[in-house]
Amino acid sequence: MKKVLLIVGGGIAAYKACELIRLMRKAGIAVRCVLTEGGAQFVTPMTLAALSEAPVHTSLWDLKDEAEMGHIQLSREADLVVVAPATADLLARMAAGIADDLATTLLLATDKPVLAAPAMNVRMWEHAATRRNVAQLTADGVTILPPDEGPMACGEYGPGRLPEPEAILAAIQSALSPQRGTLAGRHILVTAGPTHEPIDPVRFLGNRSSGKQGFAIAGALAALGARVTLVAGPVTLPTPPGVTRIDVETALAMADAVQAALPADAAIMVAAVADWRVGAAAHKIKKGGALPDLKLVENPDILATVAKGPARPRLVVGFAAETDQVIAHAEAKLARKGADWIVANDVSGAVMGGDDNSVHIVSAAGVDSWPALTKAEVARRLADRIATTLNESRP
Ligand code: CTP
Repeated sequence: MKKVLLIVGGGIAAYKACELIRLMRKAGIAVRCVLTEGGAQFVTPMTLAALSEAPVHTSLWDLKDEAEMGHIQLSREADLVVVAPATADLLARMAAGIADDLATTLLLATDKPVLAAPAMNVRMWEHAATRRNVAQLTADGVTILPPDEGPMACGEYGPGRLPEPEAILAAIQSALSPQRGTLAGRHILVTAGPTHEPIDPVRFLGNRSSGKQGFAIAGALAALGARVTLVAGPVTLPTPPGVTRIDVETALAMADAVQAALPADAAIMVAAVADWRVGAAAHKIKKGGALPDLKLVENPDILATVAKGPARPRLVVGFAAETDQVIAHAEAKLARKGADWIVANDVSGAVMGGDDNSVHIVSAAGVDSWPALTKAEVARRLADRIATTLNESRP
């Protein structure tokens, strides 16, 4: 079982550390917590102890703690040290090598990788001193998970929010993954979300795709070191760290953006592209009189175009959302579209918009059926498999 030492700093975002511990435990990671004096103003040692099912450490000068497990040992028995939230003050003391409490002493004494998730007011994040400290820590080998942008507890708006616990968990899992860095130097193209096909200026044809699975895959690939271009249909999801996002609305725009993003080492087509578009009216269609006679025109198949085109990536992966005969339809799609793998899922349940997914990887080598997993876990496993495949076939 992988072990994480979690240092909870003193910021309002400390409450998110509680959810992060729960998610880590659910993912089979053992967690030990260190709570700074500031952190204890926001969450209690009791909360962290109950969630982590382990003792919580707060002081450098605790004789009982020191007798049971010295602070040097505490800093080294974990596989990864995570600082979340990392306050401006904590980042500054880490960058300067100050060791004036248990958290900073452990950070100075550890020989394990360190992942810090900063959270602070936007002005503090943008201040020259913090910029300097982040640059220094990065140069020292600390992985900094960039904060999210959005409304802040202090009433201001901008970058500085702690990323959601799911995003921190994904970064932790990639830091713990033996596949870490295995996609460095690769360019991977991912499509995600639905497309909207306008009927007139106010109406469109669409579908229920949330984009969650595609965004999770883009994030998992970036976490393994790939340069990821994510061509996204209309969704409101945050862009995963390290991913270059191109927003499009229609299937035709998605097809253009995909062509412009080539060449790539792999293309993972997760988008639920609308099969048809409408010859859109320039003005809003008014009710009354005859029913509108919508003429549907077939959209280009982006996956098939890429798989059969001159700039074909070495690995082309399609998705197939099916409601019946899942494997048989996926096998037919594999052949028809020229993909290397089809990731097939049964969407007759609550997959669309939900957080879980149960998939089958269909390829020339056969069918690999995975158990029901979260979309984040499907993404991680798929990223690992993509890395293995690309690295096997490296010329
Ligand atoms: N796809 C695509 N361009 C399209 C339609 C689909 O790139 N115009 C891709 C999707 O991103 C997905 C795969 O093709 O990776 C399968 O999509 P799906 O809609 O299941 O396939 P269809 O060919 O439309 O088959 P069906 O008749 O089941 O709708």
